Amino acid sequence: MTPAALDVTAVRARFSALDRPLAFFDGPSGTQTPDEVIDAIAGYLRHANANLGTPDYDTARETLELVTDAHEVAARFLGCSADEVAFGANMTTLNFALSRAAGRDLRRGDEIVVTRLDHDGSIAPWLELARDRDLVVRFADVDDDCRLDLADLERQLSARTRVVAFPLASNAIGTLLDVPRVVELAHAAGALAWGDAVHYAPHGPIDVAALGVDVLLCSPYKFYGPHLGLAFARRDLLERWRPYKVRPAPESPPGRRYETGTLAHELLAGFVAAVGYLHSIGWAAIRAHERSLGERFLAGLPAHCRLLGPPTMDGRVSTFGFTVDGHDAAAVAAALGRQGIAVGWGDFYAVEIVRRLGLDAGGIVRAGLVHYTTTSEVDRLLAALAALG
Ligand SMILES: Cc1ncc(COP(=O)(O)O)c(C=O)c1O
Repeated sequence: MTPAALDVTAVRARFSALDRPLAFFDGPSGTQTPDEVIDAIAGYLRHANANLGTPDYDTARETLELVTDAHEVAARFLGCSADEVAFGANMTTLNFALSRAAGRDLRRGDEIVVTRLDHDGSIAPWLELARDRDLVVRFADVDDDCRLDLADLERQLSARTRVVAFPLASNAIGTLLDVPRVVELAHAAGALAWGDAVHYAPHGPIDVAALGVDVLLCSPYKFYGPHLGLAFARRDLLERWRPYKVRPAPESPPGRRYETGTLAHELLAGFVAAVGYLHSIGWAAIRAHERSLGERFLAGLPAHCRLLGPPTMDGRVSTFGFTVDGHDAAAVAAALGRQGIAVGWGDFYAVEIVRRLGLDAGGIVRAGLVHYTTTSEVDRLLAALAALG
């Protein structure tokens, strides 16, 4: 069944932030937020601001309800139970916390496999742990189209592999991974499958149970919500690992043991609103719109722009990393910025893939197309790139 076409004008009317001539292709570094998310954040601070602990008065009761509700909404969003989710400042902070807790079970010589498509938020926590506990970190390589090389992943696995950390999609070049196969290989080696869904999350639904991952992290500020991190881990892991926590903080539910200190309650209110916003649009409409925008971008990309990663919309999301012959990535981004076109340049902390491609000196240009992007914005971007030829 073909999904109902997305009414982009109606979508954009829900975002005051989009009511300006700037064309936002910077979604991969953080999407704009609809007004209902902003209103939910302000509404909490205006009407329900309190801390947890003594729910004997209205605002404290409302805060407890909100925190409970946010965990339930997160659980439905990820396909797990509310006991298995933890909020934090961002993905990186949560990943350091979870990897540290998991690391207490690891022994000298144990191995972690990461991929060259990962953001450093999915690599550095393991490198730091390896340094402290004499572990070994191995890297699974990419093939010529910048897809994860599954044969190389298999070569990196051994009887000592304890964790396979991987992104669901590359934040630098948009490549999707074959998650079921990566999970299967990780589990066959006796390792945990530790997914980074930060870049994937604005582009499609997540179901941790169907994916079979043991841990998964994402960041609501990449999917129309506020600056927050969100993690899932299997209940038995959360119960078995020993978190770094203060003694008076509750020992249950298990996910909450990993939430250090007071949560950003107002941002949880924004998160709940962001998930409500996404449901009101629907993944089918979002995916169809992003695919058609992506096809338009790929068909119109001038020959002097060299695309990195898969050349069609199969096997990728609508995030495009590329270089422009004869121009530095920084100069391209500056030229586009002067024309009111917001793209990013650099390595986007995806240092391994940018280095692997030999582009670490100047970096790459990145244009992220999301569901609020219009076809005329894509055409403006293509025309501006053509003019650089
Ligand atoms: C794929 C990926 N993983 C991890 C991160 C880090 O996320 P956070 O900023 O929430 O720490 C990012 C941020 O851009 C990302 O794109």
